[in-house]
Amino acid sequence: MHAPVPTPAPRIDRPADLDAVRKSYDQVADNYAHLLRTTGMGDIRRHPWLKAPVDAFADTVAGSGPARGPVLDVGCGPGQVTAYLAERGLDVSGVDLSPGMIENARRLHPQCRFSVSSATELELDAGSLGGVLGWWSLFNLPREVLPQVLASFARALKPGGHFLTATHVGEGDVVRTEAYGSEGVRWTTHRWRPEEFAALVEGAGLRVVAELRLPGDGQTGPGVVVMARKPEA
Ligand SMILES: C[S@@+](CC[C@H](N)C(=O)[O-])C[C@H]1O[C@@H](n2cnc3c(N)ncnc32)[C@H](O)[C@@H]1O
Repeated sequence: MHAPVPTPAPRIDRPADLDAVRKSYDQVADNYAHLLRTTGMGDIRRHPWLKAPVDAFADTVAGSGPARGPVLDVGCGPGQVTAYLAERGLDVSGVDLSPGMIENARRLHPQCRFSVSSATELELDAGSLGGVLGWWSLFNLPREVLPQVLASFARALKPGGHFLTATHVGEGDVVRTEAYGSEGVRWTTHRWRPEEFAALVEGAGLRVVAELRLPGDGQTGPGVVVMARKPEA
């Protein structure tokens, strides 16, 4: 008897601007880590309404019985949320498109595991994860690519596993040429209407369990946090 050969993960289209996005985040990586430390930007410990969903995710994934499994923080940046979840006892690792971000993550959180890859190239094994995070990291994915990435996350989750994501909301796309104190970056922020974004998550085969809307606060535009669960059957 041979063991069944696992079906390979479906291929995901490569975003046409992937190299430009990687280069841009490399360019801002050190500033991003600096702003995180000096201004609290992106620091969930200093933003209760960002910390609350991450805590709910950590509690749920930690207590999810047979769905318990490793957690992957996709687009982890300098790794502060990965480190927070590790501190909370989860078996978590971080992955990011930008080698510069990962360099910062490894320097700031040497106790954690990080690697460099695009969300579009992860080739995750089916049913291998207890949780996936896409924490302010999926908005650069072109509109036709995001559903493919969400489907890959849904496939990778164990039944009963959870997905937590946060993204920018609004109408249409914004091309950024300045970000985090650096000129000359180039990426597109694809903004979604909250109900459209939640429908995409559902369309990937996940069930939305909570949605939190965040109005713009002057520094960052409005956003939405969505938590979803992979159904058991
Ligand atoms: C706004 S930062 C958020 C970083 C971190 N999650 C946080 O909360 O601070 C967006 C991150 O997404 C990463 N990113 C963008 N496109 C990506 C992709 N295709 N695959 C993996 N990471 C990506 C960027 O390199 C960057 O680190």
